Amino acid sequence: MSKITPVLSAAWDQADSFTIEAYKRNGGYQALAKALDMKADDVINIVKESGLRGRGGAGFPTGTKWSFIPQGDNKEHYFVVNADESEPGTCKDMPLLLANPHSLVEGIIIGSYAIRANHAFIYLRGEVTHVYRRVLQAVEDAYKAGYLGKNILGKGFDLELTLHAGAGAYICGEETALLDSLEGFRGQPRLRPPFPAIAGLYARPTVVNNVESVASVPSIIANGAQWFASMGTEKSKGYTLYSLSGHVNKPGQVEAPLGITLRELLELAGGIRNGHRLKFWTPGGSSTPMFTDAHLDIPLDYEGVGAAGSMLGTKALQIFDETTCVVRATLRWTEFYKHESCGKCTPCREGTWWLVQILKDLEHGKGTPADLDKLLDLCENIAGRSFCALADGAASPIISSIKYFRDEYIHHLENKGCPFDPVASTLFATAGGVK
Ligand SMILES: Cc1cc2nc3c(=O)[nH]c(=O)nc-3n(C[C@H](O)[C@H](O)[C@H](O)COP(=O)(O)O)c2cc1C
Ligand code: SF4
Repeated sequence: MSKITPVLSAAWDQADSFTIEAYKRNGGYQALAKALDMKADDVINIVKESGLRGRGGAGFPTGTKWSFIPQGDNKEHYFVVNADESEPGTCKDMPLLLANPHSLVEGIIIGSYAIRANHAFIYLRGEVTHVYRRVLQAVEDAYKAGYLGKNILGKGFDLELTLHAGAGAYICGEETALLDSLEGFRGQPRLRPPFPAIAGLYARPTVVNNVESVASVPSIIANGAQWFASMGTEKSKGYTLYSLSGHVNKPGQVEAPLGITLRELLELAGGIRNGHRLKFWTPGGSSTPMFTDAHLDIPLDYEGVGAAGSMLGTKALQIFDETTCVVRATLRWTEFYKHESCGKCTPCREGTWWLVQILKDLEHGKGTPADLDKLLDLCENIAGRSFCALADGAASPIISSIKYFRDEYIHHLENKGCPFDPVASTLFATAGGVK
């Protein structure tokens, strides 16, 4: 029996899947009509009962987040979608928006109705102009069809939806930096509390949800909480989009129940590229501690990945075979975090710079045996001691690569350079590689 559960991706092979006509032909916008006939609190309860957890990385229960918005407070409420997808390896929201933007628009209208917001925003990563155009078209078409604007479907609910393009900063995916950026300020994380549910956009109660979380809502309303909860595992319910990239034969997105294993996903992705074997991989993007070929059978749900010492994150499976130098890959990731550090707090701003210098030395054979402990010491002073989770993410690849591949670091020291670079690699292979 096939392990895949195509819901959001079910129509991706239809040439016109992104149009409002195709979306409606495939049953779209029927959940909206159903939701608007329900009490707003009942919509929240269905999402709660479904067990849907946020797909943006942290896995916080979506219905519970919606229920935190105070009601009867005589304040505007805002519904904000986080479409800033920039984590290295994460490529699920952009394909979803390209192929099925109306699932997001419908989810936004239902979510806004549930939390009693009359204005919603999509904060979209700025570099993806083709996705921007497609989402803009979807929003315009939804307005024309009467799904947005005043008195939606004649049910007395009003909603304006604004699409905002960010300017290409990874930190603006952190929800409070996103809100600052949306308000026109430099995007830097805010001190919490207050949390966005109490004082978010323009200091008003705000829900911030990931694209995939919101786009999953129409299917839950249409098919019921039990249908969604029947997929997945005990505490990680439902279907989800896994993205596979790197050294696999068929990279791309696979929609499957939470709890599937990498072994099963690799079968669906045509396996590791021919003639090669798995060396290391990330379960949820570069900010989640890496795994090795010893972790092929752990269930890819929040609990399974957590118990094995990492995090499910965005379910971005970056796959590396034995031709990849783990020190070089870790250096590249660390350069990304150094570049994207917003500079607000010292451990992250200064620490990521130093991590890059040390890793560069190690990769190019100029390191010393003391550098490994120095790296770990720096990571200890950065992770958990910085203002936001970007810094924890920066430490993850370093700590985990030293845990699993210390020998390879040592080999760089002994070899006085990277054993994987073209000349040295021949010598390295002749000598038997890293044991
Ligand atoms: C540095 C950093 C970058 C993030 N980038 C994103 C992002 O691009 N998209 C996203 O949905 N969440 C991102 N998050 C997580 C958000 O802060 C937030 O948890 C999420 O949008 C909540 O949505 P959810 O509950 O639907 O998962 C990021 C967090 C951090 C610390
Ligand atoms: S941890 Fe890094 S990204 Fe986060 S606030 Fe501090 S400097 Fe900015």
